[in-house]
Amino acid sequence: MTTLFLIIAAYLIGSISFAVVVSKFYGLADPRTYGSGNPGATNVLRSGNKGAAIWTLIGDAFKGWLAVFLVDHFQQQLGLGAQADQAIALVAVAVFVGHLWPVFFKFVGGKGVATALGVLLALNVWLGLATLATWLVVAYAFRYSSLAALIASVFAPFYYGLLFGAEPQLAAVLAMSGLLVWRHAKNIANLIAGKESRIGGKAKKKA
Ligand code: G3P
Repeated sequence: MTTLFLIIAAYLIGSISFAVVVSKFYGLADPRTYGSGNPGATNVLRSGNKGAAIWTLIGDAFKGWLAVFLVDHFQQQLGLGAQADQAIALVAVAVFVGHLWPVFFKFVGGKGVATALGVLLALNVWLGLATLATWLVVAYAFRYSSLAALIASVFAPFYYGLLFGAEPQLAAVLAMSGLLVWRHAKNIANLIAGKESRIGGKAKKKA
């Protein structure tokens, strides 16, 4: 019962789309109406407002971090006992799923990159930093946010496995990576066709 409550709470937290909320706060257009149409930091950056993009990144990462951190930190008080690892894994997936299919935004959500980063940082700071470093190296080398996310998401489960072995949280990381790659289907097609826009590119009409 506690775990079910935690899953629902995590899903609701994940459903807060910071790209939409922050854009409204800054008086910008809804990110679902321009660029890639994705409510995420990369697309908000295409508005030309770096501050809004940074707050979107922080907000979306923070919600992922918060959901997992709270369950991990208060696992004793929550009485999770031997089920703590499973509960943490389920909460990790639930907050991520909330971001992808947010109940507050007609289930039209983002691709999960920032939220996954927050989740990974909460699972283990070195896991999060290693994945972030992978994203940064690829992004610096190729200037494609999507390619960086795709490669980092492939590496993340390996990093988890190397650090901790086959724990329930590894299944959560694998599920997030799988969903993240699936949500990038259009980006993958654009990368192959040489049509993907690079980081810092200007907003075009919604593709
Ligand atoms: O953060 C999502 C990124 O990987 C791709 O975003 O807007 O280029 O589809 P976008």
